[in-house]
Amino acid sequence: MGKRVVLAYSGGLDTSVAIRWLSDQGYDVIAATVDVGEAKDLDAVAAKAMRVGAKDAYVIDAQEEFCQEFLVPAIAANALYQGRYPLATALARPLIARHLCRIAEETMAEAISHGCTGKGNDQVRFDVAIETLRPGTKIIAPAREWGLTREEEIAYAEEHGIPVSATVENPFSVDANLWGRSVEGGVLEDPWNAPPEECYAWTKAPGEATPAEMVVSFAGGVPVAISGEELPLPTLIAQAASVAGAAGVGRVDLIEDRLVGIKSREIYEAPAAVALIAAHQEVEFLTLPRELLQHKAALEQTFAQVVYNGQWFTPLRSALGAYLAETQKAVTGEVRLALGNGRAVATGRRSPQAVYDQSLATYSAGDRFDHTAAVGFITIYGMQSQAYAKAQSKAAAHAG
Ligand code: ARG
Repeated sequence: MGKRVVLAYSGGLDTSVAIRWLSDQGYDVIAATVDVGEAKDLDAVAAKAMRVGAKDAYVIDAQEEFCQEFLVPAIAANALYQGRYPLATALARPLIARHLCRIAEETMAEAISHGCTGKGNDQVRFDVAIETLRPGTKIIAPAREWGLTREEEIAYAEEHGIPVSATVENPFSVDANLWGRSVEGGVLEDPWNAPPEECYAWTKAPGEATPAEMVVSFAGGVPVAISGEELPLPTLIAQAASVAGAAGVGRVDLIEDRLVGIKSREIYEAPAAVALIAAHQEVEFLTLPRELLQHKAALEQTFAQVVYNGQWFTPLRSALGAYLAETQKAVTGEVRLALGNGRAVATGRRSPQAVYDQSLATYSAGDRFDHTAAVGFITIYGMQSQAYAKAQSKAAAHAG
């Protein structure tokens, strides 16, 4: 047995060429495809890996793990980078990296390889995670090293009998998992170009969308049922995606700040993420006290940045995760979402743990709020601003 490398294999052109390229460098390539819910035929992907020259090919079902360990915290954090990107790609990378390290350990591989280029965030996420989880592993990113243009890469593939046709026809670079699709490249690189309809696969265009209503139930911050039907999380997310996607919800067109300093134009479609985060936030508004909501909002931002910046396996992320988990104890309830016009809007919410109290809020009979208490509250609440205004006018009179 020669020297071994575990390659994160997607079945696409880059990683297929990488199998051949690594083999040419004298490696036995072990292809590893981690199923995070991209919904493609992964047995066919593994078969392609073998055909293209891998010595072994693994398919790992990681959907449940992805949901419980990565998406549950992301929902707790209402995690949106730059306020918009639900972080589908960024959340899956550390999980994939962990599986690569595990397989490398089991197969005693000296190297791990991935298909990332030298311009993106994903290389950082993979490399930092691998260095943290399996120190001393050699990391090989062929696309970062080989310096091939797209055309040269295709020529190389054709020369080595690697199937390219489907890939060449796809003008975009796409990454997808349960939580969303990330699309970049081609005509999208000019930020003035409107995204062509063919870059979308999971969402209907506004004109063709079917508005819908969806009730989402949460228990302790975790979505557990849709319209009354309890579902395991991977199924629930897939179902939310299909309803929200058909309603045209979840398209994001973003000028994004990459960790490596480049601004890039990214199209996302994340119907489930957009709908579920909107619903989750609504239950929080109903069940969490004001001060906690305000404080949590700042940490949500930090959490999104930490995920985006490839810092999953850090004490900062663990600490944020613990804080967020603590906040979710009371986040139980139901939200009715109106899905349409590209948006998910809450039109109703209820919870056995609501902090909202109608008998305090009401303007009608049954009001339990002590109106006289407001007067004393206001006296104390306004004391400093009154004192300041008085001091200012005194100073002005003195000066004048
Ligand atoms: N810009 C996104 C991120 O850094 C997505 C990159 C995914 N790759 C792609 N081929 N579209 O998380």
